[in-house]
Order: sequence, then structure tokens, then C-alpha cells
Amino acid sequence: MIKIKRCKPKHIQDVQELINQNFGYGYAELKCLIGPGVTSFVALFKQKVVGFCSAVEKEDYTLLDMIVVHFNFRKKGVGRRLFKKRLTDLKTSTEIRINHWIRKHYPQPFCAKDFGFTLEKTTENKWFKIGRKQEFNCLECLKQLCVCNCAIYKKIS
Ligand SMILES: CC(C)(COP(=O)(O)OP(=O)(O)OC[C@H]1O[C@@H](n2cnc3c(N)ncnc32)[C@H](O)[C@@H]1OP(=O)(O)O)[C@@H](O)C(=O)NCCC(=O)NCCS
Repeated sequence: MIKIKRCKPKHIQDVQELINQNFGYGYAELKCLIGPGVTSFVALFKQKVVGFCSAVEKEDYTLLDMIVVHFNFRKKGVGRRLFKKRLTDLKTSTEIRINHWIRKHYPQPFCAKDFGFTLEKTTENKWFKIGRKQEFNCLECLKQLCVCNCAIYKKIS
């Protein structure tokens, strides 16, 4: 049985590996995965991390940042459970955003429409700058300075 739990420091190494496998090596190290202002959950199967999601408090909104499920555990509802848990945990936020990394196979953000998010705008080269801070090979555009486009989705609660 898969359990959804709050992410703890002991999970971070496995979470980083999961993120890097799915988004490109170096990406996890750019992210704040735990700590003040970050709400994060893991999906555990026999104590092993098989999924992760996070939300990060910004000045005037909360960003739903990462969501990832291990390839072997997909399409069993784990992603949806993580998404829902994270959203219901954000009690104080009035504006919630998703910066969706537009990819060939994922034109829309996972679960967003089902949970009432709507498209605000699309921006170019959203992740270009972070590629300068730390080497990160984008698995989508295959460039070190990522040139993927971003769709910003919003929900007011
Ligand atoms: C997106 C992801 C977290 C979904 O996890 P999951 O445990 O398989 O999700 P669920 O089982 O709850 O739901 C699966 C459904 O969501 C759909 N889905 C998966 N990714 C999607 C996306 N980005 N947009 C829309 N739908 C998506 C699947 O096609 C599937 O639909 P189906 O059951 O009708 O075939 C997982 O596919 C993943 O980790 N992908 C790689 C990382 C990623 O793209 N993260 C999202 C962007 S940050």
C-alpha cells in the first residue's frame, strides 16, 4: 500500500534522485524541497520514496512547484493523491499558481483543470536563468540553458 506522508530530511536524497531522473540531472539541486515556506509530501511504498510533490510560498501567492511519481508506480492514482493532499494542506493561500513546463507529451499541467486552475498567460524561456546558476540538462529541449516555454495557471481560493 502506498502512503502519503510529509517529506522529511531522511527522504531528500531519494527525492532528489527521483526528480533528476525525470527532469534532468542537476534540476533537483536547484529546488527547495523542504524547510520554511515549503510544503512537501512523499508517496512511500515499503518506506521507499516513489513520489513527491511540493508547494512554495512566494510573496503574494503559493506556487505548486514539483510533482513526480516513479515510472513503475504511475497510473495508479498516486499523482492525484499527492496533488490533492498538497492543495488541501494550503489553508491560508488566496492565490495558487502552477508554472507549467510545456512539453510535447504534457501540453497541460497534471490535474490542474480538474482542481479549478485556469490558464493566465504563457511566457518564454522561464528556466533559462536557472540554468546559469547550476548546470542542468533539460530533458525536453536538450539544452543546458533551457529554452522551454511556460504556461502559468492560477486558482483563487
Ligand atoms: C504527472 C505524474 C506525476 C502523474 O502521476 P501518476 O501517479 O501517474 O498520476 P495518476 O495515476 O493520479 O493519474 C494518471 C493520469 O494522469 C494523466 N497525466 C499524466 N501526466 C499528465 C500531465 N502532465 N497532464 C495531464 N495529464 C497527465 C495520465 O495520462 C493518466 O491518465 P489516464 O489514467 O486517463 O491514462 C507522473 O506521470 C510523472 O511523474 N511524470 C513525470 C514528471 C512530470 O511530468 N510532472 C508533472 C509536471 S511538474
